[in-house]
Parts: sequence; C-alpha cells; structure tokens
Amino acid sequence: MTQQGFTLWLTGLSGSGKSTLTTALADIFRERGCSVELLDGDEVRTHLSKGLTFSKEDRDINVRRIGYVARLLARNGVIVLTAAISPYKDIRAEVRAEHEAANVPFFEVYAQASLKALSERDVKGLYKKALAGEIPHFTGISDPYEAPINPEVTVHTDRDTVAESISQILGELERRGLIGRGS
Ligand code: ADX
Repeated sequence: MTQQGFTLWLTGLSGSGKSTLTTALADIFRERGCSVELLDGDEVRTHLSKGLTFSKEDRDINVRRIGYVARLLARNGVIVLTAAISPYKDIRAEVRAEHEAANVPFFEVYAQASLKALSERDVKGLYKKALAGEIPHFTGISDPYEAPINPEVTVHTDRDTVAESISQILGELERRGLIGRGS
C-alpha cells in the first residue's frame, strides 16, 4: 500500500514543545512503517538556512525554504514534520496555499503555551536573556508571534502531557483520513 504523504506543520514560540512533539510523532510513524522526515528549525538553520538572521525577511526565507522542501517530500509519500517558530501568518498561509495547489495535504498544529510558562521553564535559557534585553528581536518578547486563527489542531503544551497532545494530533489525522487507525 502506498503511504499518503502530508506536511504536519508545528508552529509556536521557542520552547513550546515543537521538537518534542515532532520527534515523538516521527517515532510513532516509523514504527508503523511510514517514511518520515523531520525539518527542525534549529537543524535547518545549521544547514539549509545557515547565516540567516532573525529579521522578518530572513525568517520568511527560512520558513519558505522549509515549506518548499516539505512539499517536495510530502508529494512523494513522505510524512513531513516541521518544527519552526514560523511566526508570520502570511507566510504560513503561503506555504499552505502552495501545498494545496500541488494537492499535498497541509496540517497545521499550533503548540500553544503561555509566555509565563515558557519563561519559567526556559530550557535553553533564552527567555532570561531576551527579557534582560540581551537578544534583540526575540519572538514573543521583542518580536511578533502571530498565532494561527484556524489551525487543524491546537495543543496546550503548558497544560497537557506530551502523550495527550500526541493523541489529540493522531486523532485528528485519523479523522481526516491522513493516517489509518493505529496503522
Ligand atoms: S523562525 O522564526 O525562522 O521560524 P526557527 O524556528 O528557525 O525560527 O528558530 C528558532 C530558534 O532559534 C529558537 O528556538 C531559539 O533556539 C533560536 N533563536 C535565536 N535567536 C532567536 C530570536 N531572536 N527569536 C527566536 N528564536 C531565536
């Protein structure tokens, strides 16, 4: 049976759990025998987008690149999981439109968490620095984040466990026929 490819696009603030969720989902899909690729913001910025800054222009370039690669892979039956902040609505909409024009499903997941929770957790120590003014244009602190208005799924990563968020995402993928039930 050929696997239906699609792009699962995680968007959310730094530290909101995007990488954790995409990594866990990748394991599940691989166990089910699917082809999977991860396009992680931090990883992409060390290869494909090396040298780009965090200006709006450079973020847009970064996000368009991720969208382009995701679409090429997904149209060939790969399940593509992206984890970039992707803070701007218009570019996410553009990536979605390009997928739809190519008949490739685009499934947006908003990893929602309050700034308060993220600053308290502060896994990478970046919020402390950003709040002290040491990182200019830090998303959510001194740079915009435009939350999705109509994502396929919103997971509340400051409230729910990883397992709960994963089951919410899998449930909606199944409901839309993008994956089989438990297969
Ligand atoms: S995006 O805006 O272009 O989508 P991307 O997901 O690739 O961002 O990179 C975000 C990661 O870069 C963050 O998780 C964080 O580790 C790091 N980072 C460094 N500077 C910034 C900044 N000014 N704003 C947001 N994230 C930053």
